Amino acid sequence: MAGKNDKILVWDVPVRLFHWLLVILMATSYFSGRAKGDWMQLHFWSGYAILTLLLFRIVWGFVGSSTARFSHFLKGPAAALTHVGHLFRKEGPRDVGHNPMGGAMVVVLIFAVLAQVVAGLFAADTDTGMVNGPLALKVADKWVDRATAFHAWWINVLLILVAVHVAAVALYLVWKRHNLIGPMITGRKRLDQAVEPGEPAPRLRFASGRLAMSVLLACAALVYFIVRAGG
Ligand code: HEM
Repeated sequence: MAGKNDKILVWDVPVRLFHWLLVILMATSYFSGRAKGDWMQLHFWSGYAILTLLLFRIVWGFVGSSTARFSHFLKGPAAALTHVGHLFRKEGPRDVGHNPMGGAMVVVLIFAVLAQVVAGLFAADTDTGMVNGPLALKVADKWVDRATAFHAWWINVLLILVAVHVAAVALYLVWKRHNLIGPMITGRKRLDQAVEPGEPAPRLRFASGRLAMSVLLACAALVYFIVRAGG
């Protein structure tokens, strides 16, 4: 029987590092992008780092630990919608990793941020013409204009998505009394919040740090070559 103080490891180190680095880098990108001028160099570097992290997380979703895998938390639209029904009930299904709705949101967030970064690669400062994304000179001007407009507009969509994400986490904390933030920091979740009463702890498989490092290095190399392709 799951005791109140029993905890199990649900999130591996790579997923936790990915999450909090993404938060820091997105804040860095946002403020450096708004500041413009000399801050644009930082904006570029933080964008490249975000791209590396996102590519890493996508690959980790296929080869990583059990709870990191897309197959673990992508259960289809029906399961996600059923979960919305449980959201406003105090008692609801417990989940070892992401719940079906949260899992769908994770994928939306990852690809929404990816769209922002990819657009940034082709964007340019149309006011001065002095600051170009690394691939801006590789495509026709009309695509640079489109990428620039998209990059400037899509950030608003990202801000809304992040607000919804944080609101959902806060709703869990305040209404359901499920602290999801602690596990994203320590990796460990209370067993009685992960499995139904009386159920045993699930068997989770954790991928090696060496694999994580290899995937990360491969993703960083890919980003390096993409940036270098711009000359
Ligand atoms: C730029 C802002 C943020 C972005 C882009 C973001 C994105 C994400 C992503 C992609 C995941 C999935 C993690 C994975 O499986 O790899 C996630 C999970 C999570 N995030 Fe955030 N996040 C942001 C801010 C925050 C903040 C400020 C908090 C804390 C209040 C937070 C709390 C969480 C929690 C608790 C989870 C795990 C949810 C669960 O247990 O299913 N996030 N976030």
